[in-house]
Amino acid sequence: MNEVYLNGEFLAADQAKVSVFDRGFLLGDGVYEVIPVYAGHCFQLDGHLQRLQASLDGVRMANPHSIPEWKQLIEHLIDLHGGGNQSLYLQVTRGVAPRDHVFPEGVTPTAFAMSNPLQAVSEKYKQHGVAAITLPDIRWQNCNIKAITLLPNSLLKQQAQDAGAIEALLIRDGYLTEGAASNAYAILDGTIYTAEKDEKVLPGITREVVIALAKKAGIPLLEQAVTDAQLKQADEIWISSSTKEVLAITQLDGKKVGTGIPGPVWQQIDALYQDYKEDVASWQ
Ligand code: PDD
Repeated sequence: MNEVYLNGEFLAADQAKVSVFDRGFLLGDGVYEVIPVYAGHCFQLDGHLQRLQASLDGVRMANPHSIPEWKQLIEHLIDLHGGGNQSLYLQVTRGVAPRDHVFPEGVTPTAFAMSNPLQAVSEKYKQHGVAAITLPDIRWQNCNIKAITLLPNSLLKQQAQDAGAIEALLIRDGYLTEGAASNAYAILDGTIYTAEKDEKVLPGITREVVIALAKKAGIPLLEQAVTDAQLKQADEIWISSSTKEVLAITQLDGKKVGTGIPGPVWQQIDALYQDYKEDVASWQ
C-alpha cells in the first residue's frame, strides 16, 4: 500500500484528500523539497530541511513542523516504504482559505509528504552524457525559493524534451543561471564555474556536495556565472540535482561539448560523488 503523510496522519494515497480551496491548488502558494534516500538513509537531510525553512521564510509561511518532527515523520515514511532507495517529496502550502491574493490570517499550513521509488541514473546517460539546449530564463526573480509554482520550469523542460534534449540551460542577461530543474556547471581550462548563490538560482543541495568534493580534491572551483559565450566554449558542462546526481552534458544546442564524451573532470567528480553516496548508504 502506498502510504503518504498529510497533516499529521499517515494514510493510503487514495484516501489523502486536500480541499479545492487549498492555496497550493488555487494559487500555487507553496514550497517543496525532493530528498534522495539511499539504503534507507536520507542524503543531506539537514541541508534539505534548512532549505525548506529558507523557502518558507522567503514566502512568509509558517513551518508546520519543527526539525525533529520532520525527521520523525520522514523516518516513518521511509520505513513504511521498506527502506532501500527512495525519492521523498515534501510540500507545504499556506493552507485552506477563500480565494484571495492577500495572505489569509490564522490559517494552518497544509503539510504533505510522499515517497516514490528512486530511479537509478541511467547508465547510458552516465556513459555518453546527455543533450541540453539553451533557452532564455523566463522564471521569476526569486529562484532561490523552491516554490511549487513550476509552470515556467515545466514549459522550459518540455521545450527541451521536444528538442530531443533532457535539460534546458537557462540564460539571463547573457549569463548561465542554472537548468530548468538542476544546477549547472561549465568547466573552462580546468576550473569549475557555477553561478553564485543569489536569487537567480536554487541553492542546490547536490551543488553544495559537488563544491565540497571539488575543494577537498583540490579542483579549482569558482562560484561565478559564465557568459553564454563562455558556456559555448566550455570543455565540459554538467548539471546536478537530487534525482540526476551529476550528469555530463555532451551536446549543447546540437553541437558537441568538448570531445563529445563525459570529460575527465566529470569522471573525477562523479567517482567522488559515488563514494560519498556509498558512505551515506552504509551508515548504521
Ligand atoms: N529540482 N535548480 C532547480 C531549478 C531545481 O528544480 C533543482 C532540483 C535544482 C537542484 O537542487 P538539488 O540538488 O537540491 O536537488 C536546482 C528537484 C529535483 C525537482 O524539482 O524535482
